[in-house]
Amino acid sequence: MKPENRTFIISGGVSGLGLATARDLHSAGAYVSLLDINANVGATIVRELGERARFFETDVSDTKSIEAAIKGTVKWVEETGKAIGGVVAGAGVGTPGLIIDKKNEPLSLSSLDFVLSINLRGTIDLIRQTLPYITTNKPSSPDGERGVIIMISSSAAFDGQMGQIAYAASKGAIASLTLPLARDLSKYGIRAVTIAPSLFESNMTKMLGPKVKLSLEKVMEFPKRAGQPEEFARLVRECVENEMLNGTVLRLDGAMRMPSKL
Ligand SMILES: NC(=O)c1ccc[n+]([C@@H]2O[C@H](COP(=O)([O-])OP(=O)(O)OC[C@H]3O[C@@H](n4cnc5c(N)ncnc54)[C@H](O)[C@@H]3O)[C@@H](O)[C@H]2O)c1
Repeated sequence: MKPENRTFIISGGVSGLGLATARDLHSAGAYVSLLDINANVGATIVRELGERARFFETDVSDTKSIEAAIKGTVKWVEETGKAIGGVVAGAGVGTPGLIIDKKNEPLSLSSLDFVLSINLRGTIDLIRQTLPYITTNKPSSPDGERGVIIMISSSAAFDGQMGQIAYAASKGAIASLTLPLARDLSKYGIRAVTIAPSLFESNMTKMLGPKVKLSLEKVMEFPKRAGQPEEFARLVRECVENEMLNGTVLRLDGAMRMPSKL
């Protein structure tokens, strides 16, 4: 699908990988609907992008909040006439926590629920609520393509480190649901693709601190550096444009396999 003159809903769209994706799709002529909990930055990004961008303050762990953002997007789509071409579900958190800590305290359920409700439930809920507006699209290709769903997993889905129980569970689930999602949606001509990045520059990885970041870069094969958000966005663009990409998880990781601990 060509992104031009289509609307893409991007959660986590005002920072890091989501923002780079928004900028790239926007530069290709797409309309971008940015959903994020961070309202201050949202207004600035929309001002920067100008036309063809809207921001909806959204908490993806709150189903009503997603509903309102989709309603707002659909209203905008009615004005522009640019159908929803897809969703990029980028909102995510990486809150760490050992299953049992040094004080012999087990991982709290509130911390587990926090990560799962954003990374897993929030991703599925966003997709679930957007789909009725994609299944009804006029096909955009001779094959009958109507849309594309792009999700973000992580290296942690395959080689999660110590302290990544909740995060790895959420990202492993995203990887696992990619194929059944593609299968459910194939009759509508909607594809589902997941990207599993290793270490990429973003606000999330800024919080790791320079020492941890350096030790992660050391275990990369080639190139020995964190990925740039623009390199991630380039793969998203390919996922949007290449109809043969479907039901798969693409590792974008410089051959990095994360060690148990740093
Ligand atoms: N950067 C990496 O190295 C890396 C590696 C693997 C996977 N990922 C995944 O990529 C995605 C994007 O992460 P990033 O690195 O760009 O981080 P980031 O912190 O720069 O961006 C994440 C965005 O999600 C938003 N967000 C958080 N909770 C939200 C909520 N409840 N509702 C709506 N928005 C919410 C944040 O405000 C932020 O704008 C995440 O799912 C992350 O797990 C990142």
